[in-house]
Amino acid sequence: MALINWNDNYSVKVYTIDEQHKKLVALINDLHEAMKAGKAKDKLGTILNELVSYTVYHFQTEESFFKKTNYPESADHQKKHNDLVDQVKEVKAKFDSGTYMLANDVMNFLKDWLINHIQKTDKKFGEFILQNGLKI
Ligand code: FEO
Repeated sequence: MALINWNDNYSVKVYTIDEQHKKLVALINDLHEAMKAGKAKDKLGTILNELVSYTVYHFQTEESFFKKTNYPESADHQKKHNDLVDQVKEVKAKFDSGTYMLANDVMNFLKDWLINHIQKTDKKFGEFILQNGLKI
């Protein structure tokens, strides 16, 4: 069973953002599957690398939307992005250094890391777009 099952409650009602969130969910699920299947460290490292780079790409996409729409809460949201990038890079660095192997607690951390941000912070941006009748 997948670690995260996408459902409509996760939607922020902005198509591009939802599609990118689905990709992030898929990467975390892939990592979880590979971990459970006991895949080699280099395979896990490849997926983790992809998760880090897609996270950076996704946050850049959202931040370009903030600029385009003059989103008033962009500074706070961007700070949260910077903290999340630091956290996922820390997971990667610890994994690379062999400090820890991927285990359920790490996977649950990544799951909460993404889902909490979507539910608490990204949804505010989606509401701003809807309330102001903006198009992206
Ligand atoms: Fe979807 Fe603010 O990250």
